[in-house]
Amino acid sequence: MKFAYVCVLFILIVVENGSKAYPLDEESATAPEDYMDYVELDPMDNVAELQKTSTGRTWLGLATTLIEKPAHHAFVFHFPMATQEQLELSGLIKSVHQRLRDSAKQQDPETVWKEHVRDEGLLKSYAEAMHKLATCYWDRTMEVSCKRSNSRIEWVVASCRCYFHGATPLLYLFREKDDKVMQAIDAGYRYEHRPYTIDRIKLLDVGSCYDPFASFPDFDVTAIDIAPAGSSVWHCDFLEAEVNKTLSIPSISEQHHSIEAFPGDHYDAIVFSLLLEYLPSSEQRLRCCRKAYDLLKPEGILLIITPDSRHQGANAKLMKNWRYTLGLMGFSRIKIEKLEHVTCMVFRKCIFPTVGKRWCDIHREAYMEPVLNIPQDFNETKLEEKDDSAMDVPRTDEDDGEIRQAFAGLPFLES
Ligand SMILES: C[S@@+](CC[C@H](N)C(=O)[O-])C[C@H]1O[C@@H](n2cnc3c(N)ncnc32)[C@H](O)[C@@H]1O
Repeated sequence: MKFAYVCVLFILIVVENGSKAYPLDEESATAPEDYMDYVELDPMDNVAELQKTSTGRTWLGLATTLIEKPAHHAFVFHFPMATQEQLELSGLIKSVHQRLRDSAKQQDPETVWKEHVRDEGLLKSYAEAMHKLATCYWDRTMEVSCKRSNSRIEWVVASCRCYFHGATPLLYLFREKDDKVMQAIDAGYRYEHRPYTIDRIKLLDVGSCYDPFASFPDFDVTAIDIAPAGSSVWHCDFLEAEVNKTLSIPSISEQHHSIEAFPGDHYDAIVFSLLLEYLPSSEQRLRCCRKAYDLLKPEGILLIITPDSRHQGANAKLMKNWRYTLGLMGFSRIKIEKLEHVTCMVFRKCIFPTVGKRWCDIHREAYMEPVLNIPQDFNETKLEEKDDSAMDVPRTDEDDGEIRQAFAGLPFLES
């Protein structure tokens, strides 16, 4: 479905000095070669994708006007303004995250968190805003309609299917790899594996909000949130939830539609989609990952989606430190992929935690420590500035302004 603000039927490409304008319509979705390497217009959504391969930059979005900036040899999209509602929704989400982080810098993060989860009014507003932003704006405009392969939900589903199902499930390949690591540690290592039996993938979606995985029939989903946005989502604060190894199913309270305790070694897959950034301290994020470890079956997977609108590699050090930190817990990272606005990772719970720890021993670098920081934890998000050398185009304040406007609808733009 087209959105009201995307009703323009052509795109103008304008050289910045104003001397030339190139109309792009549905029939001729091409551009003069000397101005760009690649432009694609999806007539269904008026989505344009522009790639300048010489710089490796790609801009993707709903565009009305593309402007080339010859001085920088870069192109800038002029997007239709995000609707007022979209800005208000993302503003609310950002302000909740920001306020939690600010408070946790001044007082004990645990106290801050306890106060936060008691604020029912705020949680309800957040849930409504996130639900609407994700389903009415973000998923449809910034992800799915632009490029199906940019959907974090689709990414999780495809990654799970590849790992557990298919002609040669990846699970068995990683099992063999782990066996080799174990043999390298101990030449006498022998282990009798059993087949990993699976029918529907038992998936725990933590911080689910609106239960986006419910529509996939090969998944048996348990969706939890401190602020459920739908009736299929159970109320549960994952930070406080108990792990009880004697249980065979989650312990629930029908009255509160909540889950109080989970069985250990139970789930095939656990999803943290945009969850960790909500938590104000590294310690709380670590606790969630450790709990996920306990709830997963051996060889189960933890899928983490984290917002990241920067270029590929900008947060590489941070992500490597996450790998190190989760490795110490006994996870091994088996996949990492940068989509348009998020970085997506799969961590496997190794049968033997030594496999994850060995990676840490071999790959430890001086900066690595067992913490889970996010870029927003730092006042200045300049952690990987040196790596920006890969981008040989100087970016001006004006460019940054354009980019900010373009992505203004995203709830996670760092402010
Ligand atoms: C940014 S939203 C992401 C929603 C959804 N997963 C998605 O990808 O669109 C983060 C969600 O995590 C939930 N959340 C935060 N901390 C939580 C916790 N400790 N336990 C359960 N849910 C939590 C929030 O209420 C919110 O709905």
